Amino acid sequence: MSSSPSAQNPSPSSTLSTPAALWRLKPFVKPVIWRLAGGAASALIAAIIALMIPIVLEQIISGPVYSGEISAIVWGAVAVFALGLGEALMVWLRRQFVLNPSTEVEYKMRTELYSRLQTLPVSFHDRWGSGQLLSRMMQDIGLIRRWLAFGLVLLVVNLLTIVIGSVLLFRWHWLLGTIFLVTAIPLWIRGYLFEKRYGALTRRSQDQAGDLATSVEESVHGIRVLKAFGRGKHALSRFSRQAETLRETEMSKAGAIASIWFWLDLMPQIAFGLSLMSGIWLISVDQIDEAQLFAFFAMAVVLRWPIESIGFLFSFMLDARTATDRVFDIFSETNTITDPEHPVHIENPRGELAFENAHFRYQDAGAHERDLLDGIDLVLRPGETMALVGLTGSGKTTLTTLPTRLYDVTGGRVTLDGVDVRDLPLAELRQHIAMAFEDATLFSATVRENVLLGRADLDVHSEEGERVLREALQVAQAAFVDSLPDGVETVIGEEGLSLSGGQRQRLALARAVAAAPKVLVLDDPLSALDVDTEALVEEALRHVLADTTAMIVAHRPSTVALADRVALLEAGRVTAVGTHSELLKTSRHYRHVISSLEAEEAARTGAIPIIRDEQLEVEDEVREGRRVEAADEDPITEKEVQR
Ligand SMILES: Nc1ncnc2c1ncn2[C@@H]1O[C@H](COP(=O)(O)OP(=O)(O)OP(=O)(O)O)[C@@H](O)[C@H]1O
Ligand SMILES: [Mg+2]
Repeated sequence: MSSSPSAQNPSPSSTLSTPAALWRLKPFVKPVIWRLAGGAASALIAAIIALMIPIVLEQIISGPVYSGEISAIVWGAVAVFALGLGEALMVWLRRQFVLNPSTEVEYKMRTELYSRLQTLPVSFHDRWGSGQLLSRMMQDIGLIRRWLAFGLVLLVVNLLTIVIGSVLLFRWHWLLGTIFLVTAIPLWIRGYLFEKRYGALTRRSQDQAGDLATSVEESVHGIRVLKAFGRGKHALSRFSRQAETLRETEMSKAGAIASIWFWLDLMPQIAFGLSLMSGIWLISVDQIDEAQLFAFFAMAVVLRWPIESIGFLFSFMLDARTATDRVFDIFSETNTITDPEHPVHIENPRGELAFENAHFRYQDAGAHERDLLDGIDLVLRPGETMALVGLTGSGKTTLTTLPTRLYDVTGGRVTLDGVDVRDLPLAELRQHIAMAFEDATLFSATVRENVLLGRADLDVHSEEGERVLREALQVAQAAFVDSLPDGVETVIGEEGLSLSGGQRQRLALARAVAAAPKVLVLDDPLSALDVDTEALVEEALRHVLADTTAMIVAHRPSTVALADRVALLEAGRVTAVGTHSELLKTSRHYRHVISSLEAEEAARTGAIPIIRDEQLEVEDEVREGRRVEAADEDPITEKEVQR
């Protein structure tokens, strides 16, 4: 959760020219290009019909109107009416043509972007605010759809209409045509300047809208924390500052549009005035007749909208360009965690997990800093349960993300049965190794679906599915699900918020167990459970783990007791491996870590821990209550209620 706008929006706008930037839409547009072309063709025919009307009018006036043939006038009027009808029909046809393909493009872009977000590594999501992704997914792609349907087609057609119309204007008299074109030149210049300013503003406003969406997402997500700490006002003032910034950008955009509209309104008036004066003069010197002047003005009226619309259509195109940039910012992110080119398969893994001189550093770590994981050497034997212990911030969670390749090592390697995890297909790797996190994320779906999430191979409603589900719930001591309104079919809220922390953790644990992996990686999965429940879970886990290699990050001495061996993480290295009692004897740092775990435990439960010399100080503090505030809020579980 980052709050600085720069972190939420890491990529600058592309340096491509606008046509080149938009050209990147080609693969999405290609399948529907003919229907778009059909739309453009209908629009062009509509424009040509509109341009024919003044010419027909000229014929009527110079012929029948002068000679007074009533029937010819009537036929002329019918012809004009028919042309008008034809134009309306073509406009309708254009809408029919473009509507469907543009929604198809939108749909394809959205699903592709979504699948892209699924495959991009966790390190990408560390850098990108969720609001930015949300606004790009919804707003920007929607804008591209509208532009393809209306903006692009009208831009092409209106430009063509202007060219054809200008040629026709010259047909009556070169002076009239010239006036018309010359007065349009300032419009093009203004339009160009406008384009540059507006493009920058658009990018800024779209980015700021993304940041604003991130803020909304964060505060809805963290509403309990904000309420509990009475920080709603603070969040509101931060939000309104951001909203104000966005409003200012929108105001500048509106200002830019207002100034371009001023020119768009002014120049045609000037053009009309000048044309009228020169037209009357041309009539007086017999260069043209009244019918031609009348037709000229009728034509100018037809051309007025295409000319005026150009500025708007240009800015629309720039909006679309910016939106395209923002979407392609994501498409062009390189995915570093991909399937290997020459995959190796392990049919029946034994489950030996090894770290060989593994190094890791986060992307945003300073260049001068030491690697967070600085040469980890550790072997987990098949079937073994290894506890991972270390001070807070020592990199335990980070280490657990390496086997499943949520992050890749930056040096050395991690192997499963001697095979580098980067040589296994990702799907296979993640089938062999399952994880449960301390922060248990559940999805808005039924308990059943949440627990069986990792079992794509299984019909969740089959008998086998039911068996796996029950077994996993049993191991995780999650019998509470049966007292939920619809049992295992209860839909739990977004991220499982309607459950207690301990209940959520147990479902997440059940999910990892149900995946029936060869290697289980658990990042402190029992931290929110009360001690009795934890003991039951551990007992059940012992059976499951008999045949499963497990790496368990432990924050409690009791979790350590579950392990066959313990690895001590210290300053980026594993400095000691052995049984709990061996390490207690041989490692001073281990004793220190265990004492602080015990002290935390004591603060939670109120029990007096075994006192060790170096820990006396801490425990004194605990007894005096100074460290009690550090204790976790223990979620209420049924066990405790019974007690
Ligand atoms: N996504 C991330 N990007 C950058 N730095 C991170 C990221 N996640 C963790 N860190 C940093 O890496 C260090 C180790 O974090 P990690 O979560 O691995 O510690 P831990 O041993 O699991 O701690 P704890 O016992 O509190 O869970 C910390 O200094 C943390 O600030
Ligand atoms: Mg951790």
